[in-house]
Amino acid sequence: MLKPEDISNAIVYCISTPPNNEMDRFRNKIAVVTGSSSGIGQACAIALVKSGMIIKALARRENKLEEIKDSLPADFRDNFHPIKCDVSKEDEVIKVFQDINEQHGGVHVLVNNAGIYRPEHQLTFRNNTNDILDTINTNIMGTMYCTREAFHSMKERNIAGHIINMKY
Ligand SMILES: NC(=O)c1ccc[n+]([C@@H]2O[C@H](COP(=O)([O-])OP(=O)(O)OC[C@H]3O[C@@H](n4cnc5c(N)ncnc54)[C@H](OP(=O)(O)O)[C@@H]3O)[C@@H](O)[C@H]2O)c1
Repeated sequence: MLKPEDISNAIVYCISTPPNNEMDRFRNKIAVVTGSSSGIGQACAIALVKSGMIIKALARRENKLEEIKDSLPADFRDNFHPIKCDVSKEDEVIKVFQDINEQHGGVHVLVNNAGIYRPEHQLTFRNNTNDILDTINTNIMGTMYCTREAFHSMKERNIAGHIINMKY
């Protein structure tokens, strides 16, 4: 069984694979990690900040993001930026990327991780419309909004970045 840290280590390994030694290229550049408040997203945000990137850590539970920031070694704390954002809300996603573009000159890495999985509410169950909509709006539309905004942020600034999708 894979642990969140196994996945985050694999992502850092892929980004930093020679011959480009890309982790140097990404030092002090922006990584957006959606769903950073727990599980795989939390592990990715921590691994990337420890690799030298500035993390825009997105989730709805801002208090969890602040707790994670406080738990980091002091050297990394300033590069971990908690942002309350519900990725299923298009206007919130657009605002996050606009702010990043204005303040930091674009995004270099996006980890599309935010997602919900409710096995207790299966597709064929009655009265499950809200669960279906929540899942589609978060797992599919949230990924689309973030990918579109990151793509344009990278393309307009000639950034050869990475978009990583944590989905099934
Ligand atoms: N664990 C597995 O075995 C597994 C396997 C395959 C794929 N995945 C996928 O990997 C991803 C992470 O899984 P996990 O096990 O780490 O899940 P998790 O511990 O439940 O974490 C999900 C994260 O997504 C965030 N999130 C949910 N809805 C959101 C929304 N509308 N806007 C912003 N953030 C939202 C949650 O933060 P807030 O509640 O604070 O917003 C939380 O940080 C998911 O997309 C999942 O489908 C997981």
